[in-house]
Amino acid sequence: MKAEDVSGELKEILHTKADIDRRVVELAAEIDADYKDKDVLLVGVLKGAIMVMADLSRALSGQYPMDWMAVSSYGSGTKSSGVVRILKDLDTDLTGRDVLIVEDIIDSGLTLSWLLSNLKSRGANSVEICTLLRKPEALKVEIDVKYVGWDIPNEFVVGYGLDWAEQYRNLDCIAILSPHVYS
Ligand code: XMP
Ligand code: MG
Repeated sequence: MKAEDVSGELKEILHTKADIDRRVVELAAEIDADYKDKDVLLVGVLKGAIMVMADLSRALSGQYPMDWMAVSSYGSGTKSSGVVRILKDLDTDLTGRDVLIVEDIIDSGLTLSWLLSNLKSRGANSVEICTLLRKPEALKVEIDVKYVGWDIPNEFVVGYGLDWAEQYRNLDCIAILSPHVYS
């Protein structure tokens, strides 16, 4: 879906499809260089990270196995509850593995900080994070993020995997949702 299809519902387009394509290729080049001689497992966080995982993994060179987790810290609203539940766990044993978590967005950081310690406790050799978006003003915990696509303003965004109540995930760009849609 393109922004024109839902233009009355979007306040502003932050990153176009072309911006995203370019940035994802840059991130992939950094990751390739850093993980050259390592056996990395990409861990995607469902469902938001599906688009970034699909594009990032194909932009990487060589083998990058992937696995998925589904966690929930949000209902259908727009604020973090801080309570994380595992809805779907990994199929892969992390012992000795170098793990790269692939995320769509870091908002409060509560979900990722929980996920980081959870994955580290499974005996991974290293656990790093790649997120397409981060909201610096919304962060409630400090987390070390190795790869960030863009820092964005503290507003609710949709598109490229990000949803509001399961809508707008298939929008091909990243946009600020008009508050009138959810208030
Ligand atoms: P936290 O606050 O724990 O956020 O860093 C975790 C998850 O919440 C979702 N999230 C958003 N989803 N637009 C969305 O569509 C947003 O602006 C937004 N902020 C947070 C997302 O799934 C993230 O992984
Ligand atoms: Mg997410």
